Amino acid sequence: MGEYTNLLVEIDSEGISTVTINRPKALNALNAATVHELDQLFDELAANDAVKVVIVTGSGEKSFVAGADILEMKDKTAVEGRQWGQLAQGVFNKIENLPKPVIAAVNGYALGGGCELAMACDIRIASEKAKFGQPEVSLGIPPGFGGTQRLSRLVGKGRAKELLFTGDMIDAAEAYRIGLANQVSVPEELIGKAKAMAQKIISRAPIAVQVCKTAVNRGLDVDLTSGIAYEAEVFGLCFATQDQKEGMTAFIEKRKANFIGK
Ligand code: HXC
Repeated sequence: MGEYTNLLVEIDSEGISTVTINRPKALNALNAATVHELDQLFDELAANDAVKVVIVTGSGEKSFVAGADILEMKDKTAVEGRQWGQLAQGVFNKIENLPKPVIAAVNGYALGGGCELAMACDIRIASEKAKFGQPEVSLGIPPGFGGTQRLSRLVGKGRAKELLFTGDMIDAAEAYRIGLANQVSVPEELIGKAKAMAQKIISRAPIAVQVCKTAVNRGLDVDLTSGIAYEAEVFGLCFATQDQKEGMTAFIEKRKANFIGK
């Protein structure tokens, strides 16, 4: 793996890669250097067969990611602002479309670009200390890293607009209630919970998991008829995998399946 200044990267023997955004003095705010590092890292994670599931978290007890770096953003021109938004949008799209599951372990503030990063992940597990919000309107901008789009898809139009228009922060319990967080954990168990979910996913048939991800992501971009047509294609294709034979044979033989990802 490459060398990173603002990211800590671990890969364990089970295939779980834990990526920690590490700028604690700025509450892990995303500056351009960090976004470029995420871009490079997610290419590496995609290409590395030893990595099965990725967990994204923030360093320290207080913050997941407190947004885009306001200091760096303050004096941007309109053109530079658009380029900055497009750069991070591209990286977040890469995370969303990584052919492996990505779990956000939201340990603290997930504000602005931090909430948008969490939403680009497949699943969000929140610490009881987590706070979510899109406070951009307090800074004179809308969200620019996909927040106007992903928030409404996750929690619906009305709740998204309330959060976007007021800039209010919500706690983990409210995030769970509206479907922004999948689970809430006591802080000490957050990473353990994320790893337990990762282990469970790793024990399932990898290609089947991967096509579930693609089918959900693609399906939300198209009409229902096109989405279910795509589902039929990938459903059919999975019958060409050894893991489909293994999964169904193991069921009939009343034993645990041993999947190989082929
Ligand atoms: C740069 C940040 C930062 C940020 C915190 N810091 N958030 N620096 N960009 N987004 C820095 C502070 O300046 C401070 O540095 C240090 O981190 C600690 O923060 P404090 O504010 O002192 O901590 P606290 O009082 O506990 O308040 C925590 C907080 C607050 C509520 C999270 O920091 C906050 O409101 N941050 C900004 C949140 C935000 O608006 N995010 C959205 C950004 S816009 P010093 O040097 O003073 O110790 C965005 C747009 C994305 O994300 C799309 C763009 C295209």
